[in-house]
Formats: sequence, C-alpha cells, structure tokens
Amino acid sequence: LFGAERANSEGPDMNDKAALQHLHQAIQQSRNVNYLAAPLIGGKQGSGASSRPVCSPANQREVVGQVIEASVADVSTAMAVAQAAFPAWESTPAATRAAALDAAADLMQERLPELVALIVREGGRIQVDAVSEVREAIDFCRYYAAQAKEKFAAPIELPGPTGERNSLSLHGRGVFVCISPWNFPLAIFVGQVAAALAAGNTVLAKPAEQTPLVAALAVGMLHSAGIPAHVLAFLPGDGRVGAAMVAARECAGVAFTGSTEVARIIARTLAAKDGPLVPLIAETGGQNALIADSSALPEQVVRDVVASAFNSAGQRCSALRVLFVQADIAERVSTMLAGAMQELRIGDPADLRTDVGPVIDEAARKVLVAHASWLDSFAKPLYTCALDERATSHGSFFAPCAYEIDSLSRLEREVFGPILHIVRWRGEDLDKVCDAIASTGYGLTLGIHSRIEDTVRRITARLHVGNTYVNRNVIGAVVGVQPFGGEGLSGTGPKAGGPHYLYRFASERTLSVDT
Ligand code: NAD
Ligand code: ALA
Repeated sequence: LFGAERANSEGPDMNDKAALQHLHQAIQQSRNVNYLAAPLIGGKQGSGASSRPVCSPANQREVVGQVIEASVADVSTAMAVAQAAFPAWESTPAATRAAALDAAADLMQERLPELVALIVREGGRIQVDAVSEVREAIDFCRYYAAQAKEKFAAPIELPGPTGERNSLSLHGRGVFVCISPWNFPLAIFVGQVAAALAAGNTVLAKPAEQTPLVAALAVGMLHSAGIPAHVLAFLPGDGRVGAAMVAARECAGVAFTGSTEVARIIARTLAAKDGPLVPLIAETGGQNALIADSSALPEQVVRDVVASAFNSAGQRCSALRVLFVQADIAERVSTMLAGAMQELRIGDPADLRTDVGPVIDEAARKVLVAHASWLDSFAKPLYTCALDERATSHGSFFAPCAYEIDSLSRLEREVFGPILHIVRWRGEDLDKVCDAIASTGYGLTLGIHSRIEDTVRRITARLHVGNTYVNRNVIGAVVGVQPFGGEGLSGTGPKAGGPHYLYRFASERTLSVDT
C-alpha cells in the first residue's frame, strides 16, 4: 500500500501536442453540452427547491449548465433512503465495495478529458491543475479501495489467554454526510465519498454551491461503476442544505472540508443533538508560512514561493500566505520575486499559456480587493501583476500581488487568494518567527528553505503542522505519498490520502469468545 502494490494514476503528457489537442477538443465539445446537477435520491430526481444557471468564473456570460438545488424535504427523503440501504451495503464484502470504486477510477481515467474540461470551465482552474485534480480523484478511489480490502475484509485476531479468542473488526457507522468546497471540486468531493463508501457507510454528498456540475458528473460515474443508487445520494445546494444534512437524526458522521468557521458551526450542531454522539472529520484552512534563512538558494526560494503562493490563484488551502525571509537575503529574494511575478500570465484558464486563472466568484474577488486596499494603507507593496483587460473583463479576476509587512500578528485569518505577505527577520529571531507562526493557531502547511539541518530540526520541533516541506514548494500533496491535513484551526485529522483515514469513518468492535 505504500508503493509496491499500488501506483498513482498517470495523466496525459502535457508536453505532447496530440494530448493537448485532445484536451482542447474536450473543452470545445463541453461547450455544446448543457450540464445539469439535480438532487438524486435512490436513482430518482428529488423535488428540488430552486434552479439557477452555473456560469464560468472566467466569463460570467458563459453558462456551463444548470443546477437544481435540493430542498429540505429532499434531505429528509435521502436520509431515510440511505438509512434503509445501510445494512445491505455494510454487509457487502469489502472487496465488492472496493471493486466498484476501482471501476469508478477506471471510468474517470477513461473520461479524464471531459472531467478536465468541466473543472476548467466551472471551477476556473487552469488545465494543468485540472489534470492533476482528476488524477487525484482517481488516486483517492484506488487508494481507499485498497485500504478497504486490506483493513475491512476480515477481523484481526488478537492474542489472549488460553481458552479465549479475541478479534477486532471494522464496520460502517451508518449514513455519512460529505460536504466539500469549490477549490478542488472533483478531487475533494470524490475523496470524501470514496472513503465513506469504502468503509461501509451509505452517503449523502453535497458539493459546494459554486461547483455542482463536475460533482454531478462524478456521481453518475460512481453509480455506473456499481455503487448502488440507494447507497449514494447527491444533494446540490448551499450551506442551508448542508446544515439540514448535519442536523438530521440519521446522520452518523460528517466529513467536511472548507472554512474553519463553518467547521465550528457544524461541530456546534452535532454537539447540541440528542441521540448518538456523531464524529466530525473537518479539514479546514491555514495561515501557511515559509521560512527562508540566509543559507537558502534565492533562485529556488523564488521558484517555490511563486508556485506556492500563486498557483491555482492562491486558492488552495495549502497555499503560501506569509514568507519569512532572513534579512541578509531579503533584498535579493524580493527583487527576483518581483521579476518572476512580472512573467505570470493571468487570464483564460482554457488557454495553455495561462499561469493564473480567475478566483471563484465576485464575492471572493471583493474580499481580496478589500484586503489589498487594507494592505495599501500601511504595508510596502512589492509587486502587483498586470491584468490584461481584454482577457479578464468578463470574469472574476484578481491580480496576484505581494506586500511587505512588519509582523504576522496583523493577519488575523486566512485570506484565500493570490496575495503574498512578506516579513523580514534577523538571524537571532528564529524562535520569535516560530512563535509568531504558532500563535496563529493554524497548522496546515509549512515551508522551510535552509541548508542547515539544525535549523530545519529546530523549526520542525517547535511548530505543529500537518504537512512540512523542506527546500521545495508547499502545494500538491500526492495521495499515499504525502497524506494531507492539518492540526489546530486547520482540522481534526485524520489525513486524507493516508493509511489511517478510513478508520475514522468506521466503528471498531471487539469480540471475545470463551472457547
Ligand atoms: P466554506 O466553508 O464556505 O464551504 C464549504 C462547504 O460547506 C460548502 O459546500 C458549503 O455550502 C458548506 N456549508 C456552508 N455553510 C454550511 C453550514 N452552516 N452547514 C453545513 N455546510 C455548510 O468553504 P469554501 O469557501 O467552499 O472553501 C474554501 C475553504 O476551504 C478555505 O478555508 C480552505 O482553506 C478550505 N479548504 C481546506 C482543505 C483541507 O484539506 N484542509 C482543502 C480545501 C479547502
Ligand atoms: N491537497 C492539496 C495540496 O496539497 C490541497 O495542495
């Protein structure tokens, strides 16, 4: 499972002209399809509350499809159907559940270009990111399928006194509620659902309101691959639909990925409910930092900072928000960083030359504009990228920018977009830098650029962070290679794409038999 028996998926070679042409054609063809996301319960369309068009964040005039949002009545019906389907699914052999997930992975691999096209158009992600995202969704299905076969197939025999047999077995918990964000509209949605199903739960899945279409396409593939219709319900809608799912009596567990604020709301709802205690798996935001000391190579720091802060328009939970650079190399790094930012091309995510696509919607853009104008009131601007008016005027675009600030304490919470903050530090202040990072309360990703092993050890010993990266960028965790997830305000664990993830979707039962 850690390598020998399982390989991660391979995507198209992005240097191969024919492969790129194929992706380009898929994007063009998807413009002729009017995609639909509608509530789906036991294989039938739910009544729905309201419908609206879903437009591309790169061009608000481009309608990608329609969404019919689920009603509260749909949530109740879906809960009842999933509850009734639970015993049969839970007693289905783990190998059969895993086979359906493997078949879903095969379908996603086959239809990768169509999924890429929809992620580009609906989510505004550039093609390279969209390809990585489809591969991650495939990897989640295969990884959790392999984990289910290994861990859920048979009870583990445990030692005991003579005349007594002891065993430990894993079981699905019941109806799992899966709620996902828009920034990985396929991979996170599929990852949560695949894990919950692999562990023997039935599932109610809600995508983010901004990106229901690619999630609906994935649900269709999961059903075609053999996940029974009654076992997986799809409920598109906004936070009100999510809140109704969490509050339902039948909800036996919640897998949530999104903001720390919404995770808290969900935790409160679960804590206030009567009946069984319901676990919450919450993967949330970060105030991610990278510390570069004077032994670091400025060229490498700049390359990794640009990728970490601006890839995916900074809309990754893992993205770099604050660069701490030692004063001795700060001037050089800043000059080179401004130069590298000058090269970034912002525009149409379907254009292969684009480095940075749009942000997800106007609400997100306005938050970033407000944050940048607050920074303008006291911080030292380093560089703001240029926006090409023709390529960006109909979409929600925000120019990547970098500012020097005097202290991290000015930043209270995660700002989700391509804004980089830079703080200079002096050699004797390394502990203070670590204390400042720790004091944010977040613990998702951390970058260290240093050639001094003792410095790396000192920093990693002081900071409690889920994913630390040394002398590289801080994004793009790979399933089964860098299990992903944070601590503190960044999440409850367990780590997605890691060997312990499925346990939290399961109940453990011990059986002791006196022979
Ligand atoms: P969000 O918290 O606004 O929404 C996430 C999901 O929760 C959406 O589906 C939304 O409809 C739903 N929701 C909203 N209110 C709800 C409520 N009261 N009850 C139940 N569900 C509700 O987050 P977002 O803007 O979609 O995503 C961005 C955030 O996600 C960032 O903070 C980012 O750091 C975080 N994120 C974390 C990870 C991770 O693995 N740690 C990965 C991706 C994104
Ligand atoms: N898993 C994603 C990354 O590492 C969020 O960038």
